[in-house]
Amino acid sequence: MSPVPRIAPASPEALDRAVALLRAGQLVAFPTETVYGLGADASDPEAVARIFAAKGRPNDHPVIVHVAPGNDVSAWAATINDDARTLIDAFWPGPLTLILPRAAGVPDAVTGGQETVGVRCPSHPVAQALLSAFGGGVAAPSANRFGRVSPTTAQHVADEFGPELSLVLDGGPCEVGIESTIVDVTGDTPVLLRPGHISTAMLAGALGKPVLTRAELDARMNAGAQAAREVPRVSGALAAHYAPRTPLERVPAGALDLRARLLVAAGRRVGVWSTVKPAADVIWVGAPLDPVAYAQDLYAMLRFLDTQGCDILLVDALPDTDAWSAVNDRLGRAVVGSGDG
Ligand code: TXA
Ligand code: MG
Repeated sequence: MSPVPRIAPASPEALDRAVALLRAGQLVAFPTETVYGLGADASDPEAVARIFAAKGRPNDHPVIVHVAPGNDVSAWAATINDDARTLIDAFWPGPLTLILPRAAGVPDAVTGGQETVGVRCPSHPVAQALLSAFGGGVAAPSANRFGRVSPTTAQHVADEFGPELSLVLDGGPCEVGIESTIVDVTGDTPVLLRPGHISTAMLAGALGKPVLTRAELDARMNAGAQAAREVPRVSGALAAHYAPRTPLERVPAGALDLRARLLVAAGRRVGVWSTVKPAADVIWVGAPLDPVAYAQDLYAMLRFLDTQGCDILLVDALPDTDAWSAVNDRLGRAVVGSGDG
């Protein structure tokens, strides 16, 4: 095995090699439209265990099973109710993960021992080519070390791993840039477990009924309006996640320049990702004004600024609207988890 992962364009030969590795119980990193995934044969508990070892991730955290378009989801899910069917028809292939009741025989290593399984059909052509050629489900978390910034290029993946990963299929930079939306459709009311490019408004539009966030579900349960329901664990929902090693701070847009000046005056080396360039002497990268473009750049920018030897990173606090909710979610966790390196 090579000491560092080899990055290979997704040629027929590289895809053959990737399939052979998966069949042998080894790991393969591959592009999806959201972020790069660290894949293993989802039907092989030992292969899935290699994912956890490589990531340094607690092994009771469930992983998403990726399937090719047209692949039989009932191999993974015991039931596919009307809501699940509607969302599959509306958004697959695409950046949406459904939490479904697990089918018999799905390894505990995949579900984290829970009675549910996360399934997603990615739209990236390289992911689809790999999944179709492999034929089975591929368990894949984001291809980063636990708690760190998710990778949106093949190089990001190669930077994170050593000999435990031999092959990274290169499919270019990820278009969406943040992880899939996750919806639990195991109950009467669909629950949003992780916001993403597919918004609650889009989900509700397709379903013809509202989708609750976790906080809304909790509020209803507290009010006794709904029978207690166990909502599954989502590791991406930990407060500290997606984090750069440099401390990261969100500053109200109008106050960013002043904050930067004070830090610079105190001798700090400051990195800034903001829509307006601060007058202060900082390392500055311009941020897009549009939430879709912002999400696409987010992780690459956090990674880039993390390599600039800064004492602190500043970003604009963004609008508190539905369109920005997935970006705000990831930035909030990045702020909490930042600064331990
Ligand atoms: O966009 C994505 O979803 C990417 C790409 C590679 O597909 N994958 C990804 O995987 O973000 P990961 O492991 O980094 O995040 C998956 C999240 C975790 O927070 C996990 O807890 C949750 O999905 N999850 C998986 N199966 C679940 C289940 N049965 N119940 C609740 N949450 C689940
Ligand atoms: Mg992840």
